[in-house]
Amino acid sequence: MMTSTFYDSVRQKMAEVGLSTKLWSNVVVAGEAHDRNIRLSGTGRGIKVFMHQGDVRHHWRGGRNSLNTSLARKCTDYKDVANSILRASGVHAPENTVFKPGEAKRAWAWAEPIAPVVVKPNNGMQGKGVFVNIDRWEDFSSIFDQVTQAYGDALVERFHPGQDHRVFVVDGKVIAATRRLAAHVIGDGKATIKTLVEKKNTSRPTIHKKIVMDETSSMYIERQGLSWDSIPPEGDRVQLRGTANLHTGGDAMDATDLLTAGEISYVERAAKAIPGLRVGGFDLLIPDASSCAESTVLEINENPMISMHQFPAIGKRRDVARAIVNAMFPETARPVELPANSPHRDT
Ligand SMILES: Nc1ncnc2c1ncn2[C@@H]1O[C@H](COP(=O)(O)OP(=O)(O)O)[C@@H](O)[C@H]1O
Ligand SMILES: [Mg+2]
Repeated sequence: MMTSTFYDSVRQKMAEVGLSTKLWSNVVVAGEAHDRNIRLSGTGRGIKVFMHQGDVRHHWRGGRNSLNTSLARKCTDYKDVANSILRASGVHAPENTVFKPGEAKRAWAWAEPIAPVVVKPNNGMQGKGVFVNIDRWEDFSSIFDQVTQAYGDALVERFHPGQDHRVFVVDGKVIAATRRLAAHVIGDGKATIKTLVEKKNTSRPTIHKKIVMDETSSMYIERQGLSWDSIPPEGDRVQLRGTANLHTGGDAMDATDLLTAGEISYVERAAKAIPGLRVGGFDLLIPDASSCAESTVLEINENPMISMHQFPAIGKRRDVARAIVNAMFPETARPVELPANSPHRDT
């Protein structure tokens, strides 16, 4: 794993060739390529990292990449499309249906028998506009209208309890996994929730996103009978959102070696189901060990965030940039450490 002096020199090199160094994701991929003497270049604002060696050219832009085909992008951009491809391939994915604005009643007639449900945009990202665990018509109807007004259609989906994971796959192999804990604070018996959030936001390294105090989190804590001015008792954990996306202040914990062989094969099967997908981030819900439920693939990101694996808040760092550059320039390939339970470990 590279050191901060290494990244300082990469940033310098990137600046020299007209590349912006704002995105960590770009810096780690450019760093891995540069270290293998692969030529870097940038154009315009420099937010797309171009890499060349001989006739081989690739690019990476904060997760968007030249390895995936446009068909892979089409199959994953719309959650209902990815979902039906997965289900047709025997991968467990939540039951869902897309509804149009004004169809709240029809949507509830579909949703009520399988409630609690989730309402979210069909092609959203970063957890924006995602409302989870809805089981009352009063909540459903206002959330449905809010989502359709902002995003056009609404995807209504069965809610699955479980631990939220992001599993990173390159060329059909699971490379890393992160457990994502939804934004939360721990009470000290003195400070208000608002103060605890502000403290946590200032104490986190800049690579982690801030906890967002918005309408969604206000509503989430209200449903627990709390407000931003409540003072949680010492040691009490107050969850601030139902979604675990890191963009809204979730915590990333490395979970690569915690995945079982079965979970790894399951995600690798899901990866094979999407044509042309060479790099992907799979949102996987893993149920509690005590329940007999199956793991569920919530969505597939063809432009995945990689900093969570490279720099987790808790646990071991995983060099996913190395696996990405290996896939782009196989002649320069370097060994990558696979998960403890990977079926490919000795091959
Ligand atoms: N069907 C579901 N059951 C339980 N939680 C869900 C479900 N759908 C979404 N979530 C929660 O919301 C988060 C964001 O949903 P996701 O479909 O991944 O949208 P986005 O593209 O915005 O990340 C998930 O990581 C998960 O925490
Ligand atoms: Mg997601």
